[in-house]
Amino acid sequence: MEVEKVLENYSSSLDLSVPRVAVILAAGHGKRLKSNIPKMLFEIWGVPTILRVIQSAREGFKTPNQIIVVGQKWEKVVETVGKEKNRIFAYQKEQKGTGDAVKTALKYIPENFSPSLFIIPGDMGLIDRETLSRFQEKFEKEDFDLLILTGEFSGPPQENYYGRIISFGDEVLGIVEYRDILNLSSPLHFSYNQMTLTYTPEELLKIKEFNAGVYAFKLLPLKKHIGKIKPDNVQKEYYLTDLVKIFREENLRVGKMLAKDEKVLLGFNDRVVLKEMNRIARDRVYAQLRDIVTFEDPEDFFIAEEAVNYILHLAKKGPVDIFLGQGAYIGRGVKLNRGVSVARNSFLKGNITLGENVKIGENVKITTYPHQTLVIGDNTEILAGDIIKGRVEIGPNSRIESWVRITGSDAHPTIIGKNVLIKGTTYIYGCIIEDEVQIEHCILKTKRIKKIVDEKGNIKRIRYIIPPPEGEEGIKEL
Ligand code: UD1
Ligand code: CA
Repeated sequence: MEVEKVLENYSSSLDLSVPRVAVILAAGHGKRLKSNIPKMLFEIWGVPTILRVIQSAREGFKTPNQIIVVGQKWEKVVETVGKEKNRIFAYQKEQKGTGDAVKTALKYIPENFSPSLFIIPGDMGLIDRETLSRFQEKFEKEDFDLLILTGEFSGPPQENYYGRIISFGDEVLGIVEYRDILNLSSPLHFSYNQMTLTYTPEELLKIKEFNAGVYAFKLLPLKKHIGKIKPDNVQKEYYLTDLVKIFREENLRVGKMLAKDEKVLLGFNDRVVLKEMNRIARDRVYAQLRDIVTFEDPEDFFIAEEAVNYILHLAKKGPVDIFLGQGAYIGRGVKLNRGVSVARNSFLKGNITLGENVKIGENVKITTYPHQTLVIGDNTEILAGDIIKGRVEIGPNSRIESWVRITGSDAHPTIIGKNVLIKGTTYIYGCIIEDEVQIEHCILKTKRIKKIVDEKGNIKRIRYIIPPPEGEEGIKEL
């Protein structure tokens, strides 16, 4: 099937009652990442960057309408982003520049619809709703034809690869790309009212205010003038940023908004910046939790944002007292309750609810498939090296000692009662284990297990139960 046809199947239609459309640019190569994975799918704090941008754009620009411009490795991008109400995928066959990418998106906007267009690159994985929301409000309140989001670069000029903002007060006179500055042999001139402002290449390089790559346009002037962009630059690309000059020549209103924090504007072209962005995301999570959670190592942990929100929600109602060991991983669906401790390098991923004061030892792995749930009751201890997966319920006050494996499938969930003791190197699959049972060194598959009490009233341990061997005929003496 041709690309366009496939994309059409993944696309819906815009909601014409909301006069805003977000355009997410995601067609680029990401060559410097040297990967088969499309750039837009590289993860920031566990979530593909484009999904982060999509969500911030929806909330910040306050519109469900989205046009996602795809090109390079479009199949994987489209599959990850998925079909959604009011979302359209636009196909940019050749990556001829940001101006061409936006022109491609325009083809998908119905004739009778004149929304504002909010453009954002798909690799800005740290962009927040608040910044975009302020941007959208400024654009609409102050009636701009084009508004540009800018940042202030804090590093040395030679490390600043962004487009430079040439301005006079709040007026934007032009945007000059870093690579074009390097290629200049003479000063550039910009006119403002009756004046001419002149910049040498050195002066241009030193400009700290940069173009973040986020724009708001009124649709009609954009449509009218986008065809005037020419690829007359070092990269031979159609630069969207050329519209600044073009709009000014047409006496259209061009403005800028400086973001409060340059960090939220980061996009990545290589793995070094990607790493830096992940570090920033981690520091954000740490800052949210450091007063309520004890981190063994604030630089080495993962808690997905959904799990963070659950903890923050708990904290509103009283002390949380959660401990997180170095290298611990807490995935999206995990609910950590008060007094829970997760020791070093333990990995929890799936729909997992831990009761109060549950203690998880080192190197424990607890996982479920997306449709399964796993629950561990209050005060239960899961000791080092345990692996627990699938549909499993463990009651309160139980103790699962080291190196135990417990599995439950959809057909055969494992249900363990309260005050149960399971001792080292036991394997349990699809069993129902009643309250107060004690098990030691067993392999148990799809069994119901009851507590037995001896004459003196003591609980009798279930020990060394191993199923009879099978398949012995496959084994021969050497
Ligand atoms: C662009 C800006 C620059 C700004 C920087 C911020 C231009 C000419 N320059 O430069 O001023 O400081 O972003 O990050 O716009 N894309 C497409 N199709 C294309 C080309 C790009 O979809 O044909 C997408 C890319 O996937 C990316 C975004 O547009 O998401 C930006 O493109 P990129 O080539 O990275 O632009 P920069 O050189 O970074
Ligand atoms: Ca970029």
